[in-house]
Amino acid sequence: MADARIFKDLKADHDRHRDMLARLGDTQGDSPERRELFEALRQELQAHAAAEEESLYATMLACPDLRDEARHSVSEHKEIDDFLGELLDIDMSSSAWLMKFKDMRHRYLHHIDEEEEEMFPSAAKTLSAEAERTMAKTFENRKPKELQLAAEQKPGDERE
Ligand SMILES: [Fe+2]
Ligand SMILES: [Fe+2]
Repeated sequence: MADARIFKDLKADHDRHRDMLARLGDTQGDSPERRELFEALRQELQAHAAAEEESLYATMLACPDLRDEARHSVSEHKEIDDFLGELLDIDMSSSAWLMKFKDMRHRYLHHIDEEEEEMFPSAAKTLSAEAERTMAKTFENRKPKELQLAAEQKPGDERE
């Protein structure tokens, strides 16, 4: 079902991301505000992608009809992770930072729109109500743990 808890959980995160991305776009130069918001966004995006992969996409990958869509999304997670790593390396006061950030924002907004409009409806059509409940439990259990991990792990860090 498209209104199952897992999809509500994921959409609630996406709405939080849309808000953070908009606020970050309004910050100026190498300010404490930009530093704090970017760090919060980085951790949030890494944790969301990891918990989403452990719940929704692990389930979709195991289902032949959903595999291609899951792979597409997971490869976009890698692309966003690369962007976050590049942003960490660029001087925040430079125009290059803002240009890279806007590039990343555009790609990420496209990614979550596509998840909501294509991946979630496909998964909802194919997976059972029980699978949806299991995914919600996994996501809700993993997300806070992934946030703790993301505080320590920079983009691109390999898991031990
Ligand atoms: Fe995603
Ligand atoms: Fe997502």
